[in-house]
Parts: sequence; structure tokens; C-alpha cells
Amino acid sequence: MGSTVAVSLGSRSYPVLVEPGCMRRCGIAIRELVHPTRAVVIGGSGIVRGYAETVRDTLEAAGVTAGLLTFSGIERHKTLARAGALLRGLAAAGVDRSGVVVAVGGGVVCDTAGFVAATYMRGIAFVSIPTTLLAQADAGIGGKTGVNLPEGKNLVGVFHQPAAVFMDPSCLRTLSDRDFRSGLAEIIKHGLIRDHDLTVRLYDAMEALLRRDMEVLTEILLRSCRVKADVVSRDEREGHLRAALNFGHTIGHAIEKVAGYGSLTHGEAVSIGMTAACLLGEEIGFHGSDLTVRVIDLLTRAGLPTRLPEDLDHDAVLEAMKLDKKIHDGTCRFVLLRMLGDAVTGVQVAPDATLRALARLRSG
Ligand SMILES: NC(=O)c1ccc[n+]([C@@H]2O[C@H](COP(=O)([O-])OP(=O)(O)OC[C@H]3O[C@@H](n4cnc5c(N)ncnc54)[C@H](O)[C@@H]3O)[C@@H](O)[C@H]2O)c1
Ligand SMILES: [Zn+2]
Repeated sequence: MGSTVAVSLGSRSYPVLVEPGCMRRCGIAIRELVHPTRAVVIGGSGIVRGYAETVRDTLEAAGVTAGLLTFSGIERHKTLARAGALLRGLAAAGVDRSGVVVAVGGGVVCDTAGFVAATYMRGIAFVSIPTTLLAQADAGIGGKTGVNLPEGKNLVGVFHQPAAVFMDPSCLRTLSDRDFRSGLAEIIKHGLIRDHDLTVRLYDAMEALLRRDMEVLTEILLRSCRVKADVVSRDEREGHLRAALNFGHTIGHAIEKVAGYGSLTHGEAVSIGMTAACLLGEEIGFHGSDLTVRVIDLLTRAGLPTRLPEDLDHDAVLEAMKLDKKIHDGTCRFVLLRMLGDAVTGVQVAPDATLRALARLRSG
């Protein structure tokens, strides 16, 4: 069970291993790939700390001197101040240019530790071991690192590709149902935008996925990682192609922000956003209602929401999308589906069609 996906970026290419148990065995691979003088594992707290200790132990067993820095890993702490503390931790541990930072945790830990690796001594090697489904499906591949500012999420950051990524589906057994479903939204997104066969497989596999059947989970995660790796390999810095990954995110981000970060998970907001994008596609005659029905069916099978929460301020969502301004002076651009597995980016949509789609999103 398990396999490797390659992210092809010339001299900065890297392998993504998707295999149950790989976290316990990654020490030798990291030594062979990076040849570090020293490793610092940056791990989340709680259950994730145990995973970080496992990674430190496999590094030590492989003959790599390894330390451990723990970071709460909560969104509120994804800040420059916490990154600064971790950078000082690296300096205190005597890490030099040939050291490696190994992140073990959810997207918050991976983003923050990646940023630390990208900026310490102008950039040292980084290995990512994401432990949530969202981080495995999305944050783990692509090289986006960063932290939040009080003014907004991910406002500070740099691209810094990892030297390797290890995705261990067995650590997803301890993930909460809600966080698990949140990650499923990104996997569904990958199928919808680029992989018809993956989408079709997801209808059948959903029940086993929700049971966290290791074989099915590994297969689906691998297929999802192939989509993301392929997009990133062709378009590292979010040009035309990588923009397709924003499917469901224009409206999803607005919903997430208005609901208040943390009240809806990212995946829940993206699920509602993907539904909205389908309704929008219908409104402008891009596709029929049958596509929307199929997408809603898939999201519902995954236990994800497809309607705006009753109490969500509709006008605030429009404002967060800056749609209130665009109503007067122009159109919005969206990623829309043409069919299952085929997305088109930069589709111009008039604000009144967006308003109609959002109204339908509320009424169902
Ligand atoms: N860099 C990118 O391309 C990219 C892409 C998507 C999201 N992100 C970022 O990722 C973050 C969200 O990531 P997330 O959804 O992983 O949330 P998270 O990092 O907040 O983790 C969610 C919770 O799960 C816990 N956890 C982690 N692994 C666990 C496990 N195996 N078992 C039990 N609990 C576990 C964490 O401690 C945390 O409490 C956001 O900050 C977002 O901006 C980055
Ligand atoms: Zn997302």
C-alpha cells in the first residue's frame, strides 16, 4: 500500500510519499535526500506532539542529530511572533545552513514551520509531514508558507518548496470527524477540477473513506496528491492553471470570514463555495442543473454543508467578496466547472448573476 508522487520543478523537484506508517520510517530517507548536519522537528502540541517525537526518534535512529520544538499549532498562534520564537529556537540549537526543519502537524504547523525554514539564514532545507487530511490534501504540496497578520490571513509568506513530503494516512485515525471532512472537501475539489475518474470513484468510496479504511484512504489521497502535484509542477506560482485550485474559494473565503474563522471549518466553507460556483455556472448557462445536483450529492455524502447557514449575514458575504462595489463597476471572475473533472478559470460573471446564485444558496 502506498506510493510516491513527484513534484517536478527542475532542481527543486521533490517526492511526496503517501504510505501508512511512513512517519515512523522517514529518518533514513530524510538523511539520504537532505544530508543535514542537524534536524529540528517543529511539532504541534497534544496528540501531534507524539507524532513529532516519533519523527525525531526515527531521525536519531538514522544517525541524524535531531531536536524538537513544540508549537501550539493553533490558527491564533500562526503569527510573526511565534515564528520569531521558533527562529530563535533554531539559533539556540546551533542550526546552520545545512540544517533541516521538519514540520509535523496540521496546516498551521506546516505553514509556520515552512516560513521559519524559508527565512532562517535566508532559507534552509524543509521537510513536511502533514498530519491532517486538509494539510495532506492541500497545504503539504506546493511550497506556500506563511503566517497571519491581525489584518488578515496568510498576509506574510514566501514560496519555499520542501525537499520531501511524507504523508502518513494512519495518523488520520486520531483526527476529529469535522477536521477529516474538512480535508475531504479539498480532495473532492481536486477531482472536480481535474480528474473525472477520481470524482466518479469518490461516490463509491465515500463510505469507506468516512470509516477511514486505510487502503481506500491511501488510494484516494494518492490520487488527490497527483492532481495537486501535477498542477504545481506545471504552474508553481499561481498563474492560470494553479488558479483552478481556487474553485469554491472566492465565495468560500468570504463565507469563512463572515462566519468568523473557526466557526465553519475551511473545508465546510469551501463546500458551500463549490456549491455556489455550480449555481453560478447554471445561472450563466455554463452547464445544466444536473452537474450541480451531482456535486451537491457528493458533498452531502461527505457530510459537508451545501447551504449558507441561516444566521449568516448575506450582505456581509457580498461585502467580503467586494461584490457590493463590483455591482456598480464591473464583473467578477470565478473558477467554474464545465463538467465533472474540468474547470475553467477567469470566467467573467456579472454581479446580478452572482446575487441570484447566492440567493439560491440560501433558499436551497
Ligand atoms: N500552504 C498552503 O498551501 C495551505 C493550503 C491550505 C491550508 N493552509 C493553511 O492550513 C491551515 C489549516 O490547516 P488544518 O486544517 O490542518 O488545521 P490545523 O493545523 O489548525 O489543525 C487542526 C487541528 O487538528 C489537530 N491535529 C493535527 N493533526 C492531527 C491528528 N493526526 N490527529 C488529531 N488531531 C490532529 C491540530 O492540533 C489542530 O487542533 C490554515 O492556517 C490554512 O491557511 C495552507
Ligand atoms: Zn482550500
